[in-house]
Amino acid sequence: DKGNHRHFMAKEIYEQPIVVAQTLRAYLQRLEDKVTLPIPDFDLSVIKRVTIVACGTSYYAGMVAKYWFEQFARVAVDIDVASEFRYRAPVMEDGGLMIVISQSGETADTLAALRHAKAEGQTIAAVVNVPTSTMAREADLLLPTHAGPEIGVASTKAFTCQLAVLAALAANLAKAKGRMTPEEEKAIVAHLAEVPAALNDALGRDEAIEAMAGAVAVARDVLYLGRGTDYPLALEGALKLKEISYIHAEGYAAGEMKHGPIALIDEHVPVIVIAPSGPLFEKTVSNMQEVQARGGKVVLISDAEGIAAAGEGCIATIEMPKAHPLIAPIVYAVPVQLLAYHVAVAKGTDVDQPRNLAKSVTVE
Ligand code: M6R
Repeated sequence: DKGNHRHFMAKEIYEQPIVVAQTLRAYLQRLEDKVTLPIPDFDLSVIKRVTIVACGTSYYAGMVAKYWFEQFARVAVDIDVASEFRYRAPVMEDGGLMIVISQSGETADTLAALRHAKAEGQTIAAVVNVPTSTMAREADLLLPTHAGPEIGVASTKAFTCQLAVLAALAANLAKAKGRMTPEEEKAIVAHLAEVPAALNDALGRDEAIEAMAGAVAVARDVLYLGRGTDYPLALEGALKLKEISYIHAEGYAAGEMKHGPIALIDEHVPVIVIAPSGPLFEKTVSNMQEVQARGGKVVLISDAEGIAAAGEGCIATIEMPKAHPLIAPIVYAVPVQLLAYHVAVAKGTDVDQPRNLAKSVTVE
């Protein structure tokens, strides 16, 4: 049932404030200002190294988590797409935690990676949305997302729920490693608790995004740029756009542009820049200005402060609510999803069942 929506994808984008709140309820103890995991008996302090393996959108959630684990817990993280991980003789030392991330819990490559790592003596944590799935059963530690059934082939609400769980895991790892004071934990709980309302605010930009989607729908190629945790979001934006609108799109780390891709820039290639105000803002903006100096047409996704500072000269801006850097990647998922959605609708493609794709990839 699509409710009032034209597509399951739109319905699932709109469910995010509720399902992320539902997911966070399983990980935050608001009254005690604590962030916990539904695996009380497991001692995270023994974890020496983390390996993250997933595919597609779930992989990009893992990329965001790598920044969090390293920053908060100071634990080294190795991350790969499952199809590469399996065949590259990865080095996994004793005491390692392997995290698989999967909406379906059935993706063939991710499951094979799980089994491989298990045989190598890793502890397996599974961030999965289907609690009865094979990965959920075979993992040592189950960290469920509570997104509910996701029907649209393009993953949306599963992604933001995965990020919520991974943020909670990063905080717990930091605690276990003695790297988080109770005050810092309290602050993290407060920031995560703001996410559902911030997602709701972000959904308020829907009409504005729909209004500018036409400028992207005419393009043959689109670039997405971001830095830090916004880099995986750039990759996610590009994946969403290509899978449902069939427009060629690439995500790049903003600082990598001048090492080649800037040669592609002309007035026909829209460049979507994801840059919330914060410590990396100036750096991303200077990469954005390099694009503009070459005639590139920029769409800036930022908050009021960022748009006031750098919005001039952009063909469009998408103004987001102000979000703390920890939660920004969760909140900024919404505009990239909505942009892909409206571009696909403008192009008349089959949004929920894009060509050549299946919801669950159970073959290698
Ligand atoms: O079920 P999983 O999360 O393991 O699926 C992984 C990918 O197949 C999936 O995220 C795919 O990339 C989506 N169609 C992206 O929207």
